[in-house]
Amino acid sequence: MYSFKNDYAEGAHPRILKALSDTNLEQSEGYGCDEHSLAAAALIKERLGGDSDKVDVHFLCGGTQTNLTAISAFLRSHEAAVGTNMSHIFVHETGAVEATGHKVLTVPTTDGKLYPDGVQAVLDAHPGDEHMVKPRLVKISNSTEIGSVYTLKELESLSRFCGEKKLLLYADGARLGSALCAEGNDVTLADIRRLTDAFYIGGTKNGALLGEALVITNDALKEDFRYHIKQKGALMAKGRVVGIQFEELFRDDLFFDLARHANGLAQLIASALKKAGYSFLTDSPSNQIFPILPNSIISKLQKNWSFIVWSKIDESRSSIRLVTSWATKEEVVREFIKEFE
Ligand SMILES: Cc1ncc(COP(=O)(O)O)c(C=O)c1O
Repeated sequence: MYSFKNDYAEGAHPRILKALSDTNLEQSEGYGCDEHSLAAAALIKERLGGDSDKVDVHFLCGGTQTNLTAISAFLRSHEAAVGTNMSHIFVHETGAVEATGHKVLTVPTTDGKLYPDGVQAVLDAHPGDEHMVKPRLVKISNSTEIGSVYTLKELESLSRFCGEKKLLLYADGARLGSALCAEGNDVTLADIRRLTDAFYIGGTKNGALLGEALVITNDALKEDFRYHIKQKGALMAKGRVVGIQFEELFRDDLFFDLARHANGLAQLIASALKKAGYSFLTDSPSNQIFPILPNSIISKLQKNWSFIVWSKIDESRSSIRLVTSWATKEEVVREFIKEFE
């Protein structure tokens, strides 16, 4: 049984394990103040261009922890976040953001993305009335929960809209590497820095054992952020564990190479399935694809392959989610494709 269930089924890229092992006996400062975490933050800042020495970089363990720590720190008690109805913070984080006291307001989506008109509809439903929560932060994921990727034009328009409406824009980058390396993508890390108030760069789903790098670009959101991390139990005494991994990922192009590898293999499957005549839930150039297959074929595939059955399309067909990772092997993908020949 081979798994296309997710991109965190394997451990870490060998270079990351080696970096952890090579530094194992070093004594370092705790709580992310070690030289590797500082070096990793500097390497990330270099990639962000412009006046990126001004951004703050914090290393956290996982996506849910990063989302809830950031969003709860950025919002005042009566303020709410806005995301799509597929948004990870709405569907898959056990109400973690809501448990910090902030409502998550949603906008229906079919392509996984959030657009200004959808956010405007939420604003219209909350017309400055203190009997309701106040929408204040717009949360997007890039790539999205269904593998789609924002264009520069889309991000610019959402960012402009947020600026006009005094909303914060926060990007969940659990799979940012995949988005940035997707075929046809025209967004850079520097664009994300320029267009958002904060975002995170996901390591867990792109070759790290674990870890996410949160980048805060808006000065007003930086103050006392480490207090918030600590209060959420997320300030790791051995912060070096994540710092060392990001140092390795950004020492050269490893982060991008791993994402490109995962994308390439997902797209290999996608083109074989397109050739075989199947359609997809969404147009995804990233490492998650959602083909629509007859239920009979899904049952047959499930004998040798594991994956998530995503949604019912009609009585006889469902969409499935196939995810490739930095560790997926091309020969395995070719074996999978043979099932459709
Ligand atoms: C877009 C997105 N955000 C956040 C997360 C949460 O990450 P974690 O499971 O590390 O908390 C995931 C996990 O799949 C995700 O896909």
